[in-house]
Amino acid sequence: MFNIEEFDIKLNTNVIGRNFIYVEEIDSTNNFLMGTKEELPSGTVVLAEHQSDGKGRRNKEWKSDKNRNLTFSILLLPHKNMPEVNLINLSSSLAIAQTLENLYQFDVELKWPNDVLINKKKIAGVLIETVSRSDKIEKIIIGMGINVNQPVFAGKFDLKPTSIRIETKREVSREKLLSEILNQFENNLITLEKSSTKILNAWRLRCKMIGEKVKIIQDKKTKFGIFDDIDHNGFLILKTREGYEKIHYGDISLR
Ligand code: BTN
Repeated sequence: MFNIEEFDIKLNTNVIGRNFIYVEEIDSTNNFLMGTKEELPSGTVVLAEHQSDGKGRRNKEWKSDKNRNLTFSILLLPHKNMPEVNLINLSSSLAIAQTLENLYQFDVELKWPNDVLINKKKIAGVLIETVSRSDKIEKIIIGMGINVNQPVFAGKFDLKPTSIRIETKREVSREKLLSEILNQFENNLITLEKSSTKILNAWRLRCKMIGEKVKIIQDKKTKFGIFDDIDHNGFLILKTREGYEKIHYGDISLR
């Protein structure tokens, strides 16, 4: 069982996670925040012990053993200085990376746009979704799935999964991990509101594919080139024979 009191003592934020909803079972924490008609405050966090229909990026599933991992979503309501959604996306995976480095001294790799890897295996992922009305964003939902104490992963995966337990050979506190991720997430958001440079540079530092030959799969199209950099909005700049191309989405791998 997740101990809310223990989590709350370690939470050091002003906004993020101050309204905390804990559920045993739900279809998807992202779906819940997208669909609810309840007026929840910005920064609300919904944590589920189990998701029956957990979603990954690009219509994939996110499967996670009950009571062992962290599957949660953060609600942000747009305000005047709200950074671009894509930058919030990068700063979210960065927050997970920074926390894993601080708590467990991992050498964390970030794979564009927002996979978190350890030893080339996936330990966490982020799914950001928005709810808009007449082109105006009304809600931003940042869903995070982190493999914490799961000992084994059955099934077929594009990218081999791992967990903190597999990598450290010990069980860790989910309460401490969640509070630290939310603390870091709020700090990153505050930094981002002032300027994106620090966040983008911190993200670049952890991306091992910059400068490498890559393949990008976008629906039915495959693109080849060199991962030149990310731009000021966090989009990927692909250097091809024809010149530079801005990539907004896709699954990237080394060629
Ligand atoms: C990915 O790497 O493909 C993204 C995975 C995101 C999974 C999380 S778990 C909590 C939230 N609710 C969902 O249905 N998905 C996200």
